[in-house]
Amino acid sequence: MEKSNSLPFLSVIVLLLHVSNSLTTPTRESIHDTFLHCLQSHTTNQPDHVSNIVYAQTNTSYTSVLRAFARNARFSAPSTQKPLLIVTPLSENQVQATVVCAKSIGLQLKIRSGGHDFEGVSYISQVPFIILDMFNFQDVTVDVQNEIAVIQAGASLGQVYYRIWEKSKVHGFPAGACPTVGVGGHLSGGGYGNMIRKYGLSVDHVVDAKIVDVKGRILDKESMGEDLFWAIRGGGGASFGVILSYTVKLVPVPENVTVFQIDKTLEENATDLVVQWQKVAPHTDDRLYLRLVLQPVSSNFVKGKKTIRASVEALFLGEADELVKLLGQEFPLLGLKKELCHEMRWIDSVVWWANYNDGSSVNALLDRNHYSVHSNKRKSDYVQTPISKDGFTWIWKKMIELGKVSIVFNPYGGKMNEVPSDATPFPHRAGNLYKIQYTVSWQEPGAAVEKSFLSQIRVLHNYMTPFVSKNPRSAYFNYRDLDIGINSHGKDNFEDGKVYGIKYFNKNFERLVKVKSAIDPENFFWNEQSIPTYPRSNA
Ligand SMILES: Cc1cc2nc3c(=O)[nH]c(=O)nc-3n(C[C@H](O)[C@H](O)[C@H](O)COP(=O)(O)OP(=O)(O)OC[C@H]3O[C@@H](n4cnc5c(N)ncnc54)[C@H](O)[C@@H]3O)c2cc1C
Ligand SMILES: *[C@@H]1O[C@H](CO)[C@@H](O)[C@H](O)[C@H]1NC(C)=O
Ligand SMILES: *[C@@H]1O[C@H](CO)[C@@H](O)[C@H](O)[C@H]1NC(C)=O
Ligand SMILES: *[C@@H]1O[C@H](CO)[C@@H](O)[C@H](O)[C@H]1NC(C)=O
Repeated sequence: MEKSNSLPFLSVIVLLLHVSNSLTTPTRESIHDTFLHCLQSHTTNQPDHVSNIVYAQTNTSYTSVLRAFARNARFSAPSTQKPLLIVTPLSENQVQATVVCAKSIGLQLKIRSGGHDFEGVSYISQVPFIILDMFNFQDVTVDVQNEIAVIQAGASLGQVYYRIWEKSKVHGFPAGACPTVGVGGHLSGGGYGNMIRKYGLSVDHVVDAKIVDVKGRILDKESMGEDLFWAIRGGGGASFGVILSYTVKLVPVPENVTVFQIDKTLEENATDLVVQWQKVAPHTDDRLYLRLVLQPVSSNFVKGKKTIRASVEALFLGEADELVKLLGQEFPLLGLKKELCHEMRWIDSVVWWANYNDGSSVNALLDRNHYSVHSNKRKSDYVQTPISKDGFTWIWKKMIELGKVSIVFNPYGGKMNEVPSDATPFPHRAGNLYKIQYTVSWQEPGAAVEKSFLSQIRVLHNYMTPFVSKNPRSAYFNYRDLDIGINSHGKDNFEDGKVYGIKYFNKNFERLVKVKSAIDPENFFWNEQSIPTYPRSNA
C-alpha cells in the first residue's frame, strides 16, 4: 500500500505489535489496531472504552461521522482524501492520548470542532491523517454571578447564546451570527459578530483557556504562559494544540434591542446609499451595527435587466425611537421609519440574524444541524479609505457581468479602534473602516460549475485591488482562503508560512512564529496554513 513509503516508522511499530501477523506493510486495519493499543496504554480511566471512540474507514458509521460536521459540499466528493481514522473523545484524557498516539505513529492530526472552515482544513488533507473530532465537548457552564462562562470547544455559538440566555436576560456574548459555527475554530481565530462595534471580538473577552499541547499536557492560562495564551486568542488553535475550552467574560445586553433590514436597488439610488453608508457605519454610535450586503439580482423595474441590491441589516442595542432619530440625522438616504424597526429580546435578535425565518423558535439555536450544506468559497479584504461613487459604479458593473458573487461589508470602528493591534494576534483594528467578505455559494454538482464560480470570485477579488489594503493585502484568518498562500513543502514551511501569515496577522506573525517554535518545535500541529516554526538555520 502507498502508505508504507510515507510511514516507515509506523511499519516498524506494526511489525512489533503484530509479530504473529504475516503483513509486512501496514494496512488500514493494522493502523486501527496500532492506534487503539496506543490509546489504551495512554488512557488512565477505563482504557477499554477507547474502542468506542475510534472509527476506521471500514466502520459502517464512518461516513456519517465524517459528514456530520463537514459544512462545505465542495469537500465531500468521493475523490476527496479521507482520514484513516476519526477519533471522537469523550474525556480530556482521551484527547491527551489521541495527541500522543497520533504523534508516536507519525500521522497528521486534524482537529475539528464545528467544521465550518471555509476550505475544509479541519477535515481534509493531502497526506495520510486522523481527525480528532471535538463534537462531544459541548458543555457551556454559565456563572452569572461572576459574569463568566466556561465553553467547551465543540459547543456551537447557538448553544453558547442559548445557555447564557437561560441564565440571564441581560447578558450576551459577542461572536458570529451563524449559530452552528463551532467555538474551537471561531474563538481561536478571532470571532466577530453584530456587537463588534460595541464589544470588539470574541477573543477580546477570553479570560482563560484549557489546551492539550504536543506533549499531551493539559495547560491553563497560568501554566501555558502569556505567549501561548496570547497566540490562541486569534492565531488559530490548530498550530498550537487542541483547545479543550475557553473561559469568557459575558457582556451586558439590553433586555430589548432593535433590528431592521432595508433593501434598495440601483434604480432606487443604492449607490448614493452605499456612499453615505461608508460615512456612517464605521463612525456612528457603537451600539449600532449596520451590515451591508451587495448582490447582483434581476431588476424589478426593467424586465431582463440586472441590478445590484444593497441590503442594510441592523442591530441596535437600544430602542427603536432612539434609532430612528439617530439615523434620521446621520443616514437620511436610508429613510428609516419606525414601522420598519422590530424591537425584540436580545435572544430573538440572534434568531433573526441567523435568518431562521422559518418560524424557528429560540430552541433552534441548540440544533447543530440547522444548516443546509452547499458548496461555497469565501475571500476577504480590508477597506481603509472610502471608495468613491465612481469606484462603486465600476464595481457594480463587474459584479453584474460576473453574476454570482456577492459582497458583504462589515463595519469596524467603536471598540475595534480602541484595542491595540498587538493585544491579540488579530491585527486589523484602528485604521480599518470595514471588512469585505466575498461570497459565492452553489448547489449544482460538477467540476465545471465549481471551476466557473471559483474563477468568478477570484476575478472580483483581483478587480478590487485598487480599493483595499496593500502591503500587506490583509485578510481575516477565520475567512480561510487557501488562494492567498499555502504550505506546499510539508513541515519545512517558513517561507510559505510567511506569505499567508503576514496577510492574516500582519506584524503579529513574528510573535506567533516565536510562540510556535517554543511550544511545538517539531511542528507536529501543522496544516495547509499553520504558523511555521523558525527556519532551521535560525533555530
Ligand atoms: C456559515 C458560516 C458563517 C460564519 N460566520 C462567521 C461570523 O459571523 N463571524 C466570524 O468571525 N466567522 C464566521 N465564520 C467563520 C468561522 O468563524 C470559522 O470558519 C471558524 O474557524 C469555524 O470554527 P469551527 O470550529 O466551526 O470550524 P472547524 O472547521 O472545526 O475548525 C476551523 C479551524 O480551527 C481548528 N480547530 C477547530 N477546533 C479546534 C480545537 N478544539 N483546537 C484547536 N484547533 C481547532 C481546525 O483545525 C481548523 O483549522 C462563518 C463560517 C461559516 C461556514
Ligand atoms: C464503529 O465504531 C464505533 C466507535 O469506535 C464502535 O462503537 C462500533 O462498534 C463500530 N461498528 C462496527 C460495525 O464496527
Ligand atoms: C421589553 O419589551 C417588552 C415587550 O414589549 C416590555 O414589556 C418590557 O418592558 C421591555 N423592557 C424594557 C427594559 O424596556
Ligand atoms: C434618486 O436620486 C435622484 C437625484 O437625486 C432623485 O431625483 C430621485 O428621486 C431618486 N430616486 C429615488 C427612487 O429615490
